[in-house]
Amino acid sequence: METKIITELTRENLQLVAHALRHGDVVAIPTETVYGLGANGLDADAMDKIYAAKGRPSDNPLILHVPNAESIKPLVKEIPNTAKALIKAFWPGPLTITLPKSDLVPDRATGGLNRVALRCPNHAVCRDILELAGVPIAAPSANISGRPSPTSAQAVYDDMNGRIPYIVDAGICTIGVESTVVEVRDDGVTILRPGGITKEMLEQVVDNVSYDPFLSSQNEAPKAPGMKYKHYAPDAPMRAFIGNPKDVAEAFNNVIHEQENKRGAFLVSQETYELLKDSVHGEFQVYGHSGDAVALAHDFYKTLHHFNECDVDYILAEGVQNTGLGVAVMNRMEKACAGHIIYV
Ligand code: TXA
Ligand code: MG
Repeated sequence: METKIITELTRENLQLVAHALRHGDVVAIPTETVYGLGANGLDADAMDKIYAAKGRPSDNPLILHVPNAESIKPLVKEIPNTAKALIKAFWPGPLTITLPKSDLVPDRATGGLNRVALRCPNHAVCRDILELAGVPIAAPSANISGRPSPTSAQAVYDDMNGRIPYIVDAGICTIGVESTVVEVRDDGVTILRPGGITKEMLEQVVDNVSYDPFLSSQNEAPKAPGMKYKHYAPDAPMRAFIGNPKDVAEAFNNVIHEQENKRGAFLVSQETYELLKDSVHGEFQVYGHSGDAVALAHDFYKTLHHFNECDVDYILAEGVQNTGLGVAVMNRMEKACAGHIIYV
């Protein structure tokens, strides 16, 4: 199959894409978080094609994307007041809510679970496509399972070339990490996957917000099936350090010294770059000021893709503290590093 990248976002082209989606094709679409691999969320055969294109385990459910809050009514049994408050505060935006599903939603969308995940993206092109398609669009991140999520059409192409007919190119995703996934009940909210909407932001709108225990103790089973899989891994082994730039630079120097003739890649803040640039050779990516979780989120997946292309032997990254958006970024970084994160 030939994969076409659509860069001219005319009404005509978006209509073509919406038509393809409604009729069972898989199309990569932009969102504000990462690119998604879309298919008709009411059509089990179409969703099967998503699983095939990604090589995704079939027990891992999909998020249904809608153009507005109104569109979720036929897809759920009820909408608790907590959900209404969250939707009012955060939609359109990077918040995915799970609610008890109606019979209209195929089991293929939910991996057999009785809840369906719903999200209204804050991305004009994406919402135009969703409106034109007229059906909810199931869309996981548009990477091959286990690989970093794509934040550009080129990154989608690298994984999906030959597997899907269209990629809609709307440039780089603004946020760079996936949406926050929450289970919403009458009595509160459980964060299943940290993301663009932080715990602190949720607490300003609803009471009783907690993290899925899995996020702090891997002995628990996660409530979001996808969280148990190895994810976001770059090709080269990666380690991360968190601390002030001077200590991070020193930790980097120690590792670089041990690695001698190997080719290293370094994801660092501006401050740490200043301390290393004169003495260290290798592939540098500089994300922003030390501790800037927003800048790190924006660049994180993009950098992992870039390091894969550079064919490096090892990767060292400077992490950020576990607060605000830092929780989401460090959750991804921890997986990319297979747990090798050190506070210095
Ligand atoms: O930002 C995002 O959410 C992106 C863009 C494309 O919208 N999508 C995305 O989808 O990240 P995906 O499939 O890569 O991740 C969805 C996560 C998985 O961990 C999955 O297990 C969980 O959400 N999930 C989906 N439906 C669920 C459900 N009914 N109950 C619990 N977890 C669910
Ligand atoms: Mg994913």
